Amino acid sequence: MQTIAFTVNGRQVSGACTDRTHLGDFLRDTHRLTGTHLGCEHGVCGACTVLVDDKPVRSCITFAAGCAGADIVTVEGYEDDAVMADLRAAFNRHHALQCGFCTPGMLATARDIVLRLPDADEATIRHELSGNLCRCTGYMGIVAAIRSVLDARRAASGATVPGAPLAAATKKFTGFTVSDEALGAAPVQAATAANEAGRAADRKGWSRIEGSFAVPYPVDAVWAFMADLPAVAGCLPGAVLTEIEGEKVKGHIAIKFGPMSARFEGAARLQRDDSRMRGVLKGAGQDSLSNSKAAGDIAYQLTARSASETEVEVDLQYSLQGPLAQFSRSGLVRDFVRRMIADFGKSVARRMDPTLSEAERMKTAQLNPVALFFGVLWERVKRVFGAGGR
Ligand code: FES
Ligand code: FES
Repeated sequence: MQTIAFTVNGRQVSGACTDRTHLGDFLRDTHRLTGTHLGCEHGVCGACTVLVDDKPVRSCITFAAGCAGADIVTVEGYEDDAVMADLRAAFNRHHALQCGFCTPGMLATARDIVLRLPDADEATIRHELSGNLCRCTGYMGIVAAIRSVLDARRAASGATVPGAPLAAATKKFTGFTVSDEALGAAPVQAATAANEAGRAADRKGWSRIEGSFAVPYPVDAVWAFMADLPAVAGCLPGAVLTEIEGEKVKGHIAIKFGPMSARFEGAARLQRDDSRMRGVLKGAGQDSLSNSKAAGDIAYQLTARSASETEVEVDLQYSLQGPLAQFSRSGLVRDFVRRMIADFGKSVARRMDPTLSEAERMKTAQLNPVALFFGVLWERVKRVFGAGGR
């Protein structure tokens, strides 16, 4: 057992919990905040969603101990929140609840949509809500309620919501963006604050993960290697190319991570800017197991760290629709993808190593997804409980 302290609904609270106690149980059992509902307890239904440091979080898959010092808001804590007041009235007006079991989580997600995506249309609202399940009302009233709040706020104040925290659409990021236009005749430049906002606005509902890795070879050699699509695909565990025609490829990639198992079939197109050593792979596909759809851009930029070492920055933007959408913004999945990027870097270095035999170079594609899953979990546990991972 350990004692943790954080702020809940504006009050400092503390209490004892085990390392494994999840935030939902801690809020309900220790502080009697039973407005946080627990449905699946697997991170799927969204009923348990609360705000942690102003971001919606599934409390059933969040360790209470990991929230020490955080600012938590549950459905009982929105008394002075103007956005939530509007949402509650709109849910009432549009009959957006029946039994009310999903409602605390729906409201937390709806508030996030209103604040983060002030220009959201119906398709975006539905996409953003796809990780919150309602088993009795259906979604018509819920979507209509959120739309009405967005419409009223736009009418009252123009394009943005008053009092909104820094929205994702305007948040400054340090990465770069490569798009079709950027790879055309216009010079490719590090994104400015203005075009960042513009591009982010084009990508409502998309998730973004950035990472980098270093390869111990000269930048020209790494750039040449990255043009070899079958070789690059061979560095991604589970990826198989079935067709290559110029810059276009078709193939599939199998992903297994904890409860998530998918096999996406799709097509992609690689565009490269040789003068700046940057490229983007744009793809889309469908998972036949879950019927989920995915679209994504993997942009990369090569920079010489020294005459014999290259840094590869990777900027992944993706959108998931369907049953797998619930995983798209989870912290575990983000850690998993960052780990994939790091392992991809190791595979590239190995494939380029002239001292290895062909068989040894090919071993890189045999990464074990189960080991990867537990590796990511272990890293998380270590972060939560300290460097020793006790
Ligand atoms: S109870 Fe947490 S997502 Fe279902
Ligand atoms: S209102 Fe009953 S589950 Fe949504």
